[in-house]
This record gives sequence, structure tokens and C-alpha cells, in this order.
Amino acid sequence: MPHFVFVNDSLVPADEASLLIGDLAIQRGYGIFDFFKTMDGEPVYLDEHLDRFFHSAAAMRLDAGVNRVELKQRIGALLERNGIANSGVRLTLTGGYSPDGYSLAQPNLVIHQSLLAVPVSAEPTHSIRLMTYPHLRQLPEVKTIDYLVAIWLQPLLREKGADDVLYHRDGVIAECPRSNFFLLTDRDVLVTPGTNILKGITRMKVLEAVNGRLATEEREVLLAELTSANEVFITSTTKHVVPVTEVDGVRIGDGRIGPVAKWVSAELYKRAAPYGRR
Ligand SMILES: Cc1ncc(COP(=O)(O)O)c(C=O)c1O
Repeated sequence: MPHFVFVNDSLVPADEASLLIGDLAIQRGYGIFDFFKTMDGEPVYLDEHLDRFFHSAAAMRLDAGVNRVELKQRIGALLERNGIANSGVRLTLTGGYSPDGYSLAQPNLVIHQSLLAVPVSAEPTHSIRLMTYPHLRQLPEVKTIDYLVAIWLQPLLREKGADDVLYHRDGVIAECPRSNFFLLTDRDVLVTPGTNILKGITRMKVLEAVNGRLATEEREVLLAELTSANEVFITSTTKHVVPVTEVDGVRIGDGRIGPVAKWVSAELYKRAAPYGRR
């Protein structure tokens, strides 16, 4: 049975869901989105994701056309119709059908659910290697649909044997294309960039989880700090917590998955799980 998708106020089978080519998302790459998980049928951190969705829409001068209550009703109806327990739900708001392919129009809202495997282990199962690249995302605090540089860099990543990119500007670390960055200093302070980033919901939950257990700082983090770091990890809704053991071919800490990444991962897993599984 095909999944269903909301296109504006219509619930339609996924293979019939479409937008016209005049949409500014297609013409100019103009739009925003948000993405949250469901576990055992329950949305995880829905309000936080909706806060960010409405923030991104307002920052991009896009009228969502629905308020929070209406949006929750549509999400609820979609989840009920599809009946997929563990999933990712994407809310996309586009620039709309622009008469001249350039000026803003009434946005189109698409709500789409896809299968997403929930990690079977609370602890990280693998680590990754990053490649640095000088870049600052446009409107970094907004979750835009623009992943141009990240997608364009994919062949270079493969060439360099890296798994993901770490953006920086003049040696100041920002984030990865789809995740936030944490570094544990040699004094065991957990630091994470505070500006020029998309404030991830997972990042917020990490900061809440470690509060009172570990010193934390939201501040400028320099590439130069990587050489003395005890640990590095990245976070996102889909990736959860992923330890980084190499940046630009240079080993981080002892090159193994560190205890703080393990603890944070397990703690977040426990907090996000539906009540029955905690
Ligand atoms: C640019 C960017 N930074 C950070 C994140 C992580 O955010 P979250 O933890 O809300 O998934 C994402 C998620 O896709 C992202 O696109």
C-alpha cells in the first residue's frame, strides 16, 4: 500500500503527490523544511521541531498557511493514515508558484513520512572521519533546503576518504552540512559553536543532558583546538551521536570512540525513547 503525503490540505498517495515546476523551490532553490523522528508511532520533540519550522518560515518571509494546532492535526492525520511506527517526517515549505519565477508567492506545504530505522544500540556503533572545508551556509540559523555545497563536495569527500564535511570560516568551526559539532577539550570542557549555525534539536538535547554533569561552553571553536581535543562528535536527528576519530587525516584524542560520546549517546537514547522503552 502506498504511503500518503499531505500536499497543502490534501492527503494523497505518495506516487501522486506533486508540485508544479513553477514553484520557487524548483526555479531558485527557495524554501525551508524541518525533519523529526517518530519512535513507536510517537513524534520525538515535536514542539521543538515546530518552533524551528515556524522560525525558519518567518525568517524566509514564508507564510506557512497553517497555525501550530492545524499543523499538528495534519501531522496526526498523516501518521494515523500511514501507520509507520519508526519514521522520519519532513515538513517542506516552498517559495510557491511565482508568476515570474523570482518573486515570492503563497508557499506550498508538503508533509512527507518515510521509513527510518531507529538505532538498535544506545551506544555509537561506528566513528567517522571528517574533511574540513571553508564555507558558511547562507542564513545559517535557518533550515533552508539549500545543500548545494555539501552535495557538490560529495565526489571530493570520496576522493579524500572522508565520511563527512566540517565547515569553517577563517579557522572558526561552524557545523557539518547536516549535523552539529561538539569538541571535548583537554580540560574536559564540552564546547560547541554558538553562532553561524543551525541550532539543532539534538544539540539542544545534548546541552540539556550534560547540564550540571560536565562544563559546557557555547562559543567560537577553532580548528586549531582539534589537535589537543580529547573527543569530537557530531549530532543530528537521524545520525544521533556520531564520534569523530579523524579530521583531515589527523587523529582525534586516542583515535577511539570516547567515553563522553558514549555517555551522551546512551543518555539521549534513553530520553528520546517512548515511555514504555525507557
Ligand atoms: C545545517 C544543519 N545543521 C545541523 C543539523 C542538525 O539538526 P537536528 O539535530 O535538529 O537534526 C541539521 C539537520 O539536518 C542541519 O541541516
